[in-house]
Amino acid sequence: VGDLLKDAWGRELRDLRISVTDRCNFRCSYCMPKEVFDKHHTFLPHPALLSFEEITRLARIFLAHGVRKLRLTGGEPLLRKNVEGLIAMLAQLRTLDGLPPDLTLTTNGSLLARKAVALKAAGLQRVTVSLDALDDAVFQRMNDVGFPVADVLAGIDAALAAGLGPIKVNMVVKRSVNLHEIVPMAHHFRERYGDAVILRFIEFMDVGATNGWCMDEVLPSAEVVALLHQHWPLVPLEPNTPGETAQRWVYADGRGEVGVISSVTRAFCRDCNRARLSTEGRLFLCLFASQGYDLRHLLRQDHASDADLTAALAQLWQQRDDRYSLLRGSHQAQPGSGQRKVEMHYIGG
Ligand code: GTP
Ligand code: 5AD
Ligand code: SF4
Ligand code: SF4
Repeated sequence: VGDLLKDAWGRELRDLRISVTDRCNFRCSYCMPKEVFDKHHTFLPHPALLSFEEITRLARIFLAHGVRKLRLTGGEPLLRKNVEGLIAMLAQLRTLDGLPPDLTLTTNGSLLARKAVALKAAGLQRVTVSLDALDDAVFQRMNDVGFPVADVLAGIDAALAAGLGPIKVNMVVKRSVNLHEIVPMAHHFRERYGDAVILRFIEFMDVGATNGWCMDEVLPSAEVVALLHQHWPLVPLEPNTPGETAQRWVYADGRGEVGVISSVTRAFCRDCNRARLSTEGRLFLCLFASQGYDLRHLLRQDHASDADLTAALAQLWQQRDDRYSLLRGSHQAQPGSGQRKVEMHYIGG
């Protein structure tokens, strides 16, 4: 086994996030605002999507370069037809150490109650579920399609019952919308589930070009931790792995773990080991990139061999110098004129 790939800042390639659809049945204001993603918006046509065979082939090449974690994203990944078929194919792959990859998925939970058993049977190891509030009125303001909290909670219960736990729950915080839901969410998940659910509070990020981001709406994670600490004393934990998105805390009384993801106030680019594959096969080296590399063209038009793909990936990763969140605010972070940052629902967060 040769040396692992390193990018321009010495960062390894360990984590591949694969977007399997650009569609979603929610219209979260921070991701796919309804005014922009309305009935006139066109989604990718089916032939543009990477097939399961193409995704699996690329994933195998990424694993050969040191990737250990595969995460399916969207849009909403459970909207991709027969996504469990793809999971079954990915579950057969092996890392450089000969182990199955850590195989997971980030979902809005709307279809999880229906699909949890099939996902587990296909080989999915765990899931992360997004949920921004316990109060229906607040949650519906966030998802903007009137989706009820109870159905997401039922999805979480079904996933735990199917053996997909421990489950991470992601809550994006917008100061003027769901700040008051932080304590109820923490209370609910620690009392009901203890360490079977890890709740994570995410700073509202300036991804894409349509979500109307402004700093006033960002609640710094330090304030989240201070708020929780007033109710339940917290003790910091060491990271599980370098480059992790969340800073971890445990409740001092032993009733579980929470995390904060501070992309705005405490960027974690320094050890960022994540690559992203878009639904149509473009490789993005940063969540905030404006351009991806067209791997689908290599697959379909150039009939690239595995060796060609391996070489292309090595070259792309070695040139990578993205660290948007660290540079945010400085002029260096602005895309060039006429360039737009890629949208979250297209790249999967
Ligand atoms: P775990 O490995 O299970 O901890 O998952 P994760 O935190 O890597 O992924 P998840 O899909 O749960 O994402 C959580 C939040 O972190 C979302 O808001 C993502 O958009 C954000 N996120 C994930 N990776 C990155 C990244 O590389 N950069 C930035 N800025 N945000 C990221
Ligand atoms: N800021 C922070 N998190 C976001 N997500 C989507 N858009 C944003 C944003 N603008 C989260 C989703 C999901 C994860 C993949 O990304 O809620 O949990
Ligand atoms: Fe859909 Fe997730 Fe985006 Fe919400 S954040 S619109 S659930 S892809
Ligand atoms: Fe990685 Fe880009 Fe996120 Fe920084 S902003 S952590 S480089 S994806």
